[in-house]
Amino acid sequence: MQKQMTSLQEVNPRVRGIRLSSQSGLHSLTENITKDIIKGTPQSFKELIDVSLGDPQRAGMKPISFVRQVLAVCLCPELLSDEHLPLDVRTRALRLLEACDGESVGSYTDSSGLPYIRQTIAKFIMKRDEGVPAYAKNIFISSGAQRALMVIVKLLSGGEGRFQTGVLIPQPCPHKLLPLLDEAGALAVPYQLIEEENWAVDTSELGRALTTSRGRCEPRAIYISNPGNPTGHLQDRKSIEKVIEFVASERLLLLIDEVYQDSVYAPNREFISYKKVLFEMDEHLRDTVEMVSFHSLSCACVAECGLRTGYMEVVNMDPGVMHFVDTMLCTDINAPVTGQIALDLMLSPPSPGDPSYNTFVHETLLTRATLAQNSQRALKLLNDLPGMSCCPAMGGIYLYPRLDLPAEIKEQANRLGLEADVLYCQMLLEEEDLIIGAGDNGTSGSHHLRLCILVPPDTLEKRFCLPEHPPPSSPAGRVTLFLSQLNQDELHEGDEPDGPWD
Ligand SMILES: Cc1ncc(COP(=O)(O)O)c(C=O)c1O
Repeated sequence: MQKQMTSLQEVNPRVRGIRLSSQSGLHSLTENITKDIIKGTPQSFKELIDVSLGDPQRAGMKPISFVRQVLAVCLCPELLSDEHLPLDVRTRALRLLEACDGESVGSYTDSSGLPYIRQTIAKFIMKRDEGVPAYAKNIFISSGAQRALMVIVKLLSGGEGRFQTGVLIPQPCPHKLLPLLDEAGALAVPYQLIEEENWAVDTSELGRALTTSRGRCEPRAIYISNPGNPTGHLQDRKSIEKVIEFVASERLLLLIDEVYQDSVYAPNREFISYKKVLFEMDEHLRDTVEMVSFHSLSCACVAECGLRTGYMEVVNMDPGVMHFVDTMLCTDINAPVTGQIALDLMLSPPSPGDPSYNTFVHETLLTRATLAQNSQRALKLLNDLPGMSCCPAMGGIYLYPRLDLPAEIKEQANRLGLEADVLYCQMLLEEEDLIIGAGDNGTSGSHHLRLCILVPPDTLEKRFCLPEHPPPSSPAGRVTLFLSQLNQDELHEGDEPDGPWD
């Protein structure tokens, strides 16, 4: 039989054009090392510590009991009569099962999600935004926030050459964002976040990026991550207002990724949504600025990344366009029903007096405390290292330290055709059993690391452990020196971590 795909040339050029992040190269290396460990090949390490991915449960964080218990009952309805389970778990499971067709999580739902859960989301948004109205008809549940973003970017994308759709994206940005735009056929228009101002968004830089992109593409949208991945920056009301005024004057669609809204830990700071700010601005803006806000089960406190569910709320979108949002979501049929249920539980948790309330509050507070403590501790450790500096984060689950790398590493990276921070991460992986994410490909002329700090505190400590046999003073040895210095200075002073997991 003749093969349909005999050569690389026959693969869809758009697919061939997808630029994977530096992270994917590191992951191939990780897979090889893991295979070696499984095969028992002699290595200097026994265990890999992965703090590169925003995948808290993989890193050892515990799931929320209430979410898992209700899911267990929904999947196995015989448990409805199991009195070992708290009553509110069973009543909630019953209510959710009744919301499913055939009273089963095994049935399809509408492509935009179960109407009951879209209502829960609308109520959550209204409460969060202190009364700003939210309607279930403007909410679309999807197989993750990234999928929702893909739907919107695909809706916007079109054209070739200077007519190609452009999307303004921050530098640095979440590492899946560039491949997503590539796949959707949109051109990334980078705007630089201001490191000296803790990675703030600067509207004059947005203006510069927009102006220089004209003639190369047709910029139609701007993506913002708030709290920021990977910077941890949290925008305040003033900054949000400036962005809204900018998009209004330039007639751009605002794509607001707010998946880390539950994880703001800087003292005296709180998350404020773009929608709330918009609705407290001038009536003209409130009625015209088009916005899509994304949220996800992969957020910090619930962190059920593998259940693949998120949602978007659209604001001021033409109903005709919204029809096509639904059409696009139809191609997935629907988001996983278990994920939709978990979303309901995350956004409508137990209330005071419910049997599960105390455990739920305890578990979520523990996660927030871990995040805050890890962030503080890692920040100090990183800033005490020679060759590293890191801005304090206000929220989210990452730190993004800057690396001032030795000339040898830069030269070696050059010879290998790699970015120096990617080479640094490879060395850490091969020599220190640490998997840390590399920065944004050095596009801003500097080098950084991407660290997920939502990990159990002992993982954070192990990340900085002293190698038993420091390698010679090769470039790699210098890398090790960074860590050993850190270890001697900080971890051997009887300064035991006091995180909530200890
Ligand atoms: C900024 C940002 N947006 C979206 C996502 C992913 O969302 P989802 O897992 O729902 O696709 C992540 C990571 O979890 C993220 O860091």
